[in-house]
Amino acid sequence: MCGIIGFTGYIDAKEVLLNGLAELEYRGYDSAGVAVFTDKGVETFKNVGKVAALRNEIPAGVESSCGIGHTRWATHGGVTKTNAHPHTCGKVTLIHNGIIENYHELAAELKNGGRIPQSQTDTEVAAMLLDSLYTGDAYEAISEAVKRLTGAYAFCIMFEDQKDVIYCIRKGSPLVACMAEEGAVIASDMVALLKYSKEYFVLPEFNIAKLTKNSIMVTDLYGNTVTPTMLSVNWDMSAAQKNGFKHYMLKEIHEQPESVKLTVRPRIKRENGAVLPDFSEDKVPDELFLNAGKIVITACGTAMHAGLVGRVLIEKMIRVPVSVEIASEFRYADPIVDEKSLVIVVSQSGETADTLAALRLAKEKGAKTLAIVNVKGSSIAREADYCMYTHAGPEIAVASTKAYTAQLAVFYLIACRFALATGKFDKEQATEFMNELEAVPEKIEKILEERGVIKELSKRLTPARDLFFIGRGLDYALSCEGSIKLKEITYIHSEAYAAGELKHGTLSLITGGTPVIALGTQKAVFPKLISNVKEVRARGAMVILVTNGANTDDMEKGICDEHLVIPACKDEFAPFLAAIYLQLIAYYTSSYRGLDVDQPRNLAKSVTVE
Ligand code: AGP
Repeated sequence: MCGIIGFTGYIDAKEVLLNGLAELEYRGYDSAGVAVFTDKGVETFKNVGKVAALRNEIPAGVESSCGIGHTRWATHGGVTKTNAHPHTCGKVTLIHNGIIENYHELAAELKNGGRIPQSQTDTEVAAMLLDSLYTGDAYEAISEAVKRLTGAYAFCIMFEDQKDVIYCIRKGSPLVACMAEEGAVIASDMVALLKYSKEYFVLPEFNIAKLTKNSIMVTDLYGNTVTPTMLSVNWDMSAAQKNGFKHYMLKEIHEQPESVKLTVRPRIKRENGAVLPDFSEDKVPDELFLNAGKIVITACGTAMHAGLVGRVLIEKMIRVPVSVEIASEFRYADPIVDEKSLVIVVSQSGETADTLAALRLAKEKGAKTLAIVNVKGSSIAREADYCMYTHAGPEIAVASTKAYTAQLAVFYLIACRFALATGKFDKEQATEFMNELEAVPEKIEKILEERGVIKELSKRLTPARDLFFIGRGLDYALSCEGSIKLKEITYIHSEAYAAGELKHGTLSLITGGTPVIALGTQKAVFPKLISNVKEVRARGAMVILVTNGANTDDMEKGICDEHLVIPACKDEFAPFLAAIYLQLIAYYTSSYRGLDVDQPRNLAKSVTVE
């Protein structure tokens, strides 16, 4: 969960590194630092705080065309200047994204050799190990060092006696690179390369990249030259900028009509008036679903919440059992999956350590694996048997929004494809379903036009200490997402509850003025939900009720304190629309509380460590 970048070329390295770190800051922002080759050797500048503060650490007049930069999410060792990267030991200066699991044993061995760490980090131990192995041949030292390391890592390494050269290697943590006119650039994520090139490659694991001003050479650990697969993105720099919005999160909320459209459109086949889901571009065969004796969805956080909606939908439409497993649990639960299982892994970044581990375990057990991923060429996308990309573009805000609704879109496409393939849908029913799905972007647009209502309403939530989301069925699945969105950026304690479960304990927490956001978009259980609304209101709750325009004709007046009505739609499509309200509520409440909406405390965008 850190952002790393390396550059060597013909322009000012400091600017490349600082600008790149600013793009990578969503990956962690506890501290930041750079190390650059100057006429004095390798100079390091680092401190706690964000990249913007780092700029002030670098004295004017520091000239360099080669360096490495790091923005940190603390894993080992507190947020201090000493623990900030880069770390130097002897001739070695390096930066690291990941966790070295055996760093204690290594530190003890190195201590016996007289090397005493100055920091509390696993990274410094890696630098010490490398320096203990370095006798002038970088490849030899790196190859030997990685044999000794267990855990996940992406390293950018500079050796004092190899001016303007950077060596990189990775295992588990991401590194992408490009050769541009300005020089060679390598980073944790494509957003830091976009300014220089749209063509890039993923550094294969256990391969060493040597960056010089004019070249990037990739070799395996035996010295054999490797030619990585080139990839390209259709994003441009504006896609990774705020474009006039105050925060990335608000921009990304507003991009959802487009991101849902871009995710659905390439998967539609129109024939003789029918509108059918088509996965030929994804190369995902119907047999993948038809032959599945068991379907498991596994992911983390918001991606897992998209899976909760997917489960309700697929079970309702196809009548096959689907389970949703938290990836960090799945990977240690010795899960009951085998060659007859289909495991669907969901991840915006495609690099979440727990989800990647869950995918690898599922494959070890013989399951077929399908990934739903946003970042092209990411580890999960590459390692799954099949991959369906969400086309949401770069998502920078830590709080996931457009990736979530794009993930929903893929689950809705899967459900419809699955229903057609099993005969649960004929072409007419599939066409009706797909027409509803194609109508979603326009309905999201309508909600965004009314965001002023949400902005005003959010003022009532700003002082809250606790807040509850309740719902039934699809609404319960969605309330889980509403809850994480709110708490991660407003720091208000929030819980999502199956509305029928309140009476079994949580109702004791409802007191005068406690805000409760009740999701009541599902007609079949609407009366029951209203009973739950009455239960909490009777105990003083302030209730915000979200309903479907098609369901509230006979709703009694004064049943709630605020009433939000999503544009009329078939109940099963309500999650797309109600989600927009919940995202905006979280956004505006966080804004009113004066918090850092895009980079909330303690968090990072991509959790690449377990
Ligand atoms: C979402 O708002 C959170 N930032 C977090 O739960 C995120 O969804 C989770 O870490 C999974 O990330 P991924 O989709 O990149 O795997």
